[in-house]
Amino acid sequence: MRLKDKVAIVTGGASGIGRAAIDLFASEGASVVIADINASAIEAAVGELRNAGHKAAGHMCDVTRREDTHEFMKMVHAEFGRIDVLVNNAGITRYRPFAEATSEDWDAVLGVDLKGVFFCSQAAAPFMRRQGYGRIVNISSALGTGAAPHNTAGSPGGSAAYASAKAGVIMLTKTLARELGPDGITVNCVAPGTFLTPISASNRTPDEVEEHLEHRRRNLLLRRVGTLDELASVILFFASDQASYVTGQTLSVDGGRSDRM
Ligand SMILES: NC(=O)c1ccc[n+]([C@@H]2O[C@H](COP(=O)([O-])OP(=O)(O)OC[C@H]3O[C@@H](n4cnc5c(N)ncnc54)[C@H](O)[C@@H]3O)[C@@H](O)[C@H]2O)c1
Repeated sequence: MRLKDKVAIVTGGASGIGRAAIDLFASEGASVVIADINASAIEAAVGELRNAGHKAAGHMCDVTRREDTHEFMKMVHAEFGRIDVLVNNAGITRYRPFAEATSEDWDAVLGVDLKGVFFCSQAAAPFMRRQGYGRIVNISSALGTGAAPHNTAGSPGGSAAYASAKAGVIMLTKTLARELGPDGITVNCVAPGTFLTPISASNRTPDEVEEHLEHRRRNLLLRRVGTLDELASVILFFASDQASYVTGQTLSVDGGRSDRM
């Protein structure tokens, strides 16, 4: 039980990678709390977790809204008495070639993927500081570590906003690690490669998704797309005391993407 008696929050925890982290954390003994904007998915996830005997809660929280994030953290602290782990996972993407990308695209993606990390960390940090203990794990992306073609289907990319946000998350991780380290709070980052979740299908047809996955399978050093469990276990590592002397780091979990090496 690597998170026994810990209280762990995952933003975007109602779907995909966040949900995988929530499930693993719960099985490792944590009380888990989902912050998301998808009410029905929150309800379904919390129901399943409670039915399985876990302590779980979930609340609507738009990470782009500062007030939401502060309200959310207050609510979690009132309900569970502590905030030990925060995984800043909520994310969106809008793939559009650079020349066509709009100001609204930029603001939407940077708002969730970068500003959301800033707001949630800022809202959770005071509680962690008071405890003298905290683990913040930020989710970046392989696209934040190297400029890769987004899609093999003839697309030259289209990830300017997303890649910029995800690169920003890596730097934000380092600055937060510096500011929060003296209070016993570690801040680390995971940069996933390709995993099959709803985000992988956003702005892609099913054929394009398959083509994208096939391209990855051919080019990854490990020659396969990863499972969500393989990713969640690395998030757990940073969230647990196994990584108690690690801070400010980014770990790529991508099956060996040669396009960033
Ligand atoms: N799937 C991949 O291949 C992959 C690769 C690299 C990085 N990532 C990153 O992993 C994270 C999770 O992605 P996923 O693949 O699980 O996607 P997903 O779409 O399955 O899950 C994202 C979750 O975030 C929530 N969300 C969106 N906007 C929000 C907001 N404003 N406030 C709160 N919650 C919000 C959604 O409702 C959803 O539940 C993202 O940050 C994504 O950029 C994913």
